[in-house]
Formats: sequence, structure tokens, C-alpha cells
Amino acid sequence: MRECHKTSIGIIVGTGTKQFLQQMKPAPSEELTINTRYGEVRLICLRWQRENTKDIVDVFILPRHGYRHEVPPHMINYKANIAALKRVCVDGIIATAAVGALHDNLKIGDILIPDQLIDWTRQRPLTFFEHDSSALVHVDMTQPYCERLRKLLLTASVKAKVKAVDGGCYVCTDGPRYETAAEVKALKLLGGDVVGMTVATEATLAREACTCYTALCVVTNYAAGVGGAHPSHSEVAEVMKQASNNLSLLISTAVDLYVVEDCICKHSLDEYGIEPPV
Ligand code: HPA
Repeated sequence: MRECHKTSIGIIVGTGTKQFLQQMKPAPSEELTINTRYGEVRLICLRWQRENTKDIVDVFILPRHGYRHEVPPHMINYKANIAALKRVCVDGIIATAAVGALHDNLKIGDILIPDQLIDWTRQRPLTFFEHDSSALVHVDMTQPYCERLRKLLLTASVKAKVKAVDGGCYVCTDGPRYETAAEVKALKLLGGDVVGMTVATEATLAREACTCYTALCVVTNYAAGVGGAHPSHSEVAEVMKQASNNLSLLISTAVDLYVVEDCICKHSLDEYGIEPPV
């Protein structure tokens, strides 16, 4: 197990991993395989020299769909991914995600830092505390993302001059299919702004793992039926490709500004007096 004394940050990258990795500034890197009780996870560790302080931080990159985009959203080993990032002692996780817009106030290519979520999945791991009857855990998800990391991303967006929408409700579906037009209407009525297939599961497990987590969404398409839209993966992939420059700039700036701090997310299990099973 790695010692937890160095600043380490986790970046979960969704669709567009290849371009994103190409855009990140060159830094010495190492591939690691982390064994967790939930399965094996491959990570890339970038040894990142920060712009101002010149100190080195470890940035652990985890492509959630695999290195060849071969793992669909419903097959992702979410528990292993969060456990692996926890094992390498990340202070917090920034996760990129492609999303469909549920209304036309958002434009294709917009970057959005959501502040709420609705979990509309039915076939996902809901908790790390499934088999352990000694721990009946109900974590607080009133604010589902880490406010500290959301603010960091907003500050980074100003500094990097990359526009980002502050707030919005992310609805998570199981996929892998896109929604029907009627589902999209319902999700909008429920209060959603964007729809995607991954973030709710990660945010929940990260909270149970006492790890800060925030999402950075790119609007890749209008959701099914919005203005007559028919979402397609090629459209999503193309917009993510175009956004990768801005995404990597924003994330690099956030890494340069990152400060390890105590945070309410790290105390999500305090009332139970237990450690996360990771
Ligand atoms: N629906 C669900 N997930 C998505 C979409 C969408 O329209 N676009 C990108 N990810």
C-alpha cells in the first residue's frame, strides 16, 4: 500500500480519454495495476510539476470506459474504481462526463459543473456496505458533490479562461441505450438539466469512501427529442474530442491550484465510527 503523505488527485476520464491524455501536458508517467477486493484497476500516474510552486503532485488518471473505450456504462466496475483511487490515497476525484442537455438553455460544447443529481439507475451497485450487516450506513447526499472541489473548478475556469456553467442537475440513467423522448420529457419535469450514465454511481460510492468527488460535464448533444434530437455516439465522441483542449486546460489549472484540506466529505462515516471497506 502506498504511503499517503503526498498530494494525490484522481481524475476519472469518460468518453474522449485518448484526446484528453494527449492534451495533458507531458509529465513523467507510470502505469499501475491496483488490486482491490472488488477487482483489478489500471491507472496512469502522472508526476505533475505544478506551475507556481514547482512541487510534484501525483495525478492518477482512470479511464472509466477502459483504454480502448470497451467498457459500457452498465459494465463499469464502479466499486473497484473508487476503491483503487482510495488505495492510492487521492485527496479528491474530478470526473469528466459527456452529457445530453435536457433543455435548450444549454448549448453543445458547454462545460457544466453540476451541483445536484438524480439517480435514475436501477441496475447499479448502490453501496459498499452490501454484505456487512454490522454496518447499516446511510450517507448524507444533500450536496452530492464536494463543494470544495466544485469551487476549485470554478476558480480554475476563471483563471484558465474556459467558460463553465455553475450548477445544474445531472440525471443518471443505466444506459447503455439513450433515453426515449418521453423519458427525456419526464427527466426534465423531475428537475434535471443534463443526462448521463455514470456520475451518480461514482458520486455515491465516493461519498461512502469518504472521498471528495466532483463532476465536470461536457454537453455533447441534445437529449432524445429535445428539438427533434436523435443522440448518437459518433456525435458525442466528436464533441468530446473538440472539448478535450478546454477540459485538459481546466483540469491542469485545477491541479496547479489544488490544496489538500479537511472537508466534510472525508467525514461521511464519522457518525458510524467505521472505515470504508476499500
Ligand atoms: N443520454 C445519456 N447519456 C449521455 C447522453 C444522452 O443524451 N449524451 C452523452 N451521454
